[in-house]
Amino acid sequence: MAASTLEIKNLHVQIEGEEILKGVNLTIRGGEFHAVMGPNGTGKSTLASAIMGHPKFEITEGEVFLDGENVLEMEVDERAQAGLFLAMQYPSEISGVTNSDFLRSSINAHREEGDEIPLMKFIKEMDGAMDDLEIDKNMAQRYLNEGFSGGEKKRNEILQLMMLKPAIAILDEIDSGLDIDALKVVANGINKMRNEEFGCLIITHYQRLLDYITPDHVHVMMQGRVVKSGGPELAHRLEAEGYDWIKEELGIDDETVGQKA
Ligand SMILES: Nc1ncnc2c1ncn2[C@@H]1O[C@H](COP(=O)(O)OP(=O)(O)OP(=O)(O)O)[C@@H](O)[C@H]1O
Ligand SMILES: [Mg+2]
Repeated sequence: MAASTLEIKNLHVQIEGEEILKGVNLTIRGGEFHAVMGPNGTGKSTLASAIMGHPKFEITEGEVFLDGENVLEMEVDERAQAGLFLAMQYPSEISGVTNSDFLRSSINAHREEGDEIPLMKFIKEMDGAMDDLEIDKNMAQRYLNEGFSGGEKKRNEILQLMMLKPAIAILDEIDSGLDIDALKVVANGINKMRNEEFGCLIITHYQRLLDYITPDHVHVMMQGRVVKSGGPELAHRLEAEGYDWIKEELGIDDETVGQKA
């Protein structure tokens, strides 16, 4: 499989008639890791949900292409089939579906009928990934995310990532709620995915995740746009100095830093 490219062009998104994203431009190529940072409420999760096709988010302008295909015209399940993966900031609980069944049917949904993953191969891969992520084996038989602790949910998102092997992944605050050891475990899991084909957009507030996963590019979102991009040094500066210097540079005041500018 050749490396994929996700192109986000001038994306405008409204929620209930209010414009949240005001022209986001971002290109993620296979092999690249991008970090998106930014103050609360500036549209980071909105960007992730809109790309994945959450019905609440209305795209009013702009385009999203995956390898030249118009993502915004695809159904939600087609977006996953095409190779997009989203680890949500708040993963949903699905009662009655075990983690293992969910994973297996997700994998099979990406394969042709008659070419389903053999059960033993699936179990072996799942066991291996669970070992990598130090997930207790009995989590496989629990209902998806039901009663999982915050950190368990996050590890489980990375289990899905490692099993589904998407072309492009968007990870929304995958580090939130993780204890110090779990942060390393999850980061190792993500780093294991690194290859010339896999592209990843990591939404995070903290440098501590980026200490383990070095991004190639760092972007800052404010007022529903990417207002600054740079290399890993940009994240270091944000960690040391916060966002005030960017706000000053761009003439953004605290009242308008969110989307309601
Ligand atoms: N489902 C929704 N209904 C109404 N408003 C929403 C919804 N989702 C997001 N918003 C609003 O859109 C704005 C951007 O929210 P978003 O979740 O994208 O921010 P964020 O940058 O991810 O913030 P955080 O860093 O706190 O996760 C906020 O003002 C939020 O209240
Ligand atoms: Mg968010």
